[in-house]
Amino acid sequence: MKITINQQVFETIRGKTILDVLKENSFSIPHECDGKCTCGTCVVEITRGSRFLCPIREAEQFHLESKDYPRNHRLACQAIITGEVEVVIP
Ligand code: FES
Repeated sequence: MKITINQQVFETIRGKTILDVLKENSFSIPHECDGKCTCGTCVVEITRGSRFLCPIREAEQFHLESKDYPRNHRLACQAIITGEVEVVIP
């Protein structure tokens, strides 16, 4: 399946996180806790296909709300891909 990052299209597979795909394709994004959902630094904007990401869990919601991110933002390390999405790195 396809994932679009900053208007570039990449192939990926169901079950990876957005952070997995960013790292595989050498995108630079903060990820201080490397996916443990403790730092809240790996925020990305979802511009299309948010329904193709896993639901937001409590710890992720806490980070997003504590920094007042709009609803179309996710933590890349927590967002598991199940379909085609478009992502912008802020
Ligand atoms: S890498 Fe720390 S919350 Fe995503």
